[in-house]
Amino acid sequence: MPATSLDQIVALAKRRGFIFPSSEIYGGLQGVYDYGPLGVELKNNIIADWWRTNVYERDDMEGLDAAILMNRLVWKYSGHEETFNDPLVDCRVCKMRWRADHIHGVCPNCGSRDLTEPRPFNMMFRTQIGPVADSGSFAYLRPETAQGIFVNFANVLTTTARKLPFGIAQVGKAFRNEINPRNFLFRVREFEQMEIEYFVMPGADEEWHQRWLESRLAWWEQIGIPRSRITIYDVPADELAHYSKRTFDLMYDYPNIGVQEIEGIANRTDYDLGSHSKDQDQLNLTARVNRNEDSIARLTYFDQASGRHVVPYVIEPSAGVGRAMLAVLCEGYAEELTKALPADKLAVVGEALQSFLKSVGRSEKISAEARDAILARGEELGQALAERLPEVEQLLAMPGVDQIEVGKKLRGQAQPLIDEHYRTVLRLKPRLAPIKAAVFPLKRNHDQLVATAKEVRRRLQLGGDMRTVYDDTGAIGKLYRRQDEIGTPFCITVDFDTIGQGKDPALAETVTVRDRDTMAQERVPIAELEAYLREKLRA
Ligand code: GAP
Repeated sequence: MPATSLDQIVALAKRRGFIFPSSEIYGGLQGVYDYGPLGVELKNNIIADWWRTNVYERDDMEGLDAAILMNRLVWKYSGHEETFNDPLVDCRVCKMRWRADHIHGVCPNCGSRDLTEPRPFNMMFRTQIGPVADSGSFAYLRPETAQGIFVNFANVLTTTARKLPFGIAQVGKAFRNEINPRNFLFRVREFEQMEIEYFVMPGADEEWHQRWLESRLAWWEQIGIPRSRITIYDVPADELAHYSKRTFDLMYDYPNIGVQEIEGIANRTDYDLGSHSKDQDQLNLTARVNRNEDSIARLTYFDQASGRHVVPYVIEPSAGVGRAMLAVLCEGYAEELTKALPADKLAVVGEALQSFLKSVGRSEKISAEARDAILARGEELGQALAERLPEVEQLLAMPGVDQIEVGKKLRGQAQPLIDEHYRTVLRLKPRLAPIKAAVFPLKRNHDQLVATAKEVRRRLQLGGDMRTVYDDTGAIGKLYRRQDEIGTPFCITVDFDTIGQGKDPALAETVTVRDRDTMAQERVPIAELEAYLREKLRA
């Protein structure tokens, strides 16, 4: 079962080093996160998989890496200066600011309905260019990577001699001054996008829009988000972005956040190339564009069949890396019972939970809001304690619980039972796993076991693409649990048989390989280990 609460993912991400709040030692920066040692690996693997699928495995795609800073005129003619706005309201009582379409007329902070009229708030960040700060010396941090592709259309076309249809792929940072960044990686102010602008003959756009929809759904499935978990939202006309003729939003059901966009697939028509072109009157544009007096180029394509210059239509699949990573973590997350729970010990935890909740109900040290939240969560848990015992950890991490003395008793009763009977496992697709294999010596104070394990690790790492780690910081069971939790598909143990000092001489030069998902163990000759793992990692 995927994650049932975003808290599970936030806690795991922090505990194991996937994601940290930005500048945490100075109190953080709202809506900005850093990717830790495992997060950067997972993020890079998602991006690499997207690039491999959309650039290398097709014969109609090119790549690009355009700069984040661009001439300000790009954002004038793209329409962003005028229209990239969210509706902002102020609460007149508590002075907080909100996005009007997120709050249904009630201030989420103080409950007041005394709000100002919504006014447009432009979400682009500005930065100064050069040493003199005057009204003309600023640039924007790009709010989408797409425009870097449109303004390079002619460069790519002339240097690659592509014929329509073809596309340009780009992965890079985008920045949006979101009014209320929230929900962990879901809505942030600095994020990465994986965008494709796919150029087609006008008239072929609708067919290509459908094809890209199918192709993108297949990719999500490939990285572990089943088709059944994605809803397609055919965006109604009154919600479409200013450039779009039709958009399919792919929606994923994030725990706590709900069904939300993970990727948009838009038909941008000839809006963008037309907007950035000179001589617009001569281009037979179908989109309504602002008159462009500044561009020095016609962004057209010469169609040999008709002998005419046309402005291609564009299909744009655009996905956020952070939202992809969050979905992959949620989908892969599981807390599993590994052996049956003894009824008597469970009953003791049940009693400890009840007395904890009683104590919460009586406590005057915590706010009414925190108390109600703890009670609601605790009672829900108590209804199905056998299935959800590990969630006691999240209950005890809720704001206010540190004021409840008997919380410690509950933890003392629950934790050993959780440790012994459950495991947290991230069932990531092996291709995405931050670490592909971990190698352990059966004993860390045995020179030959240690040296052999380190040599096995070194050899697996030689290929360069299979991140492998060595670990001897605990008993084997504990090391397995740690790797399960971060999604490592294979754990390899070097034991006395490996070094020819075991009971069975036939097992010399072999190791035990344990599978993350089945927990089954297999004996594999060291000489065949790399090929064995590669075969399985292809999945
Ligand atoms: N070029 C088209 C474009 O930027 P968008 O729907 O605004 O379209 C595309 O953004 C994707 O970027 C979204 O589907 C989402 O995955 C991601 N995204 C947008 N805003 C985001 C934010 N504030 N935080 C995280 N991801 C975001």
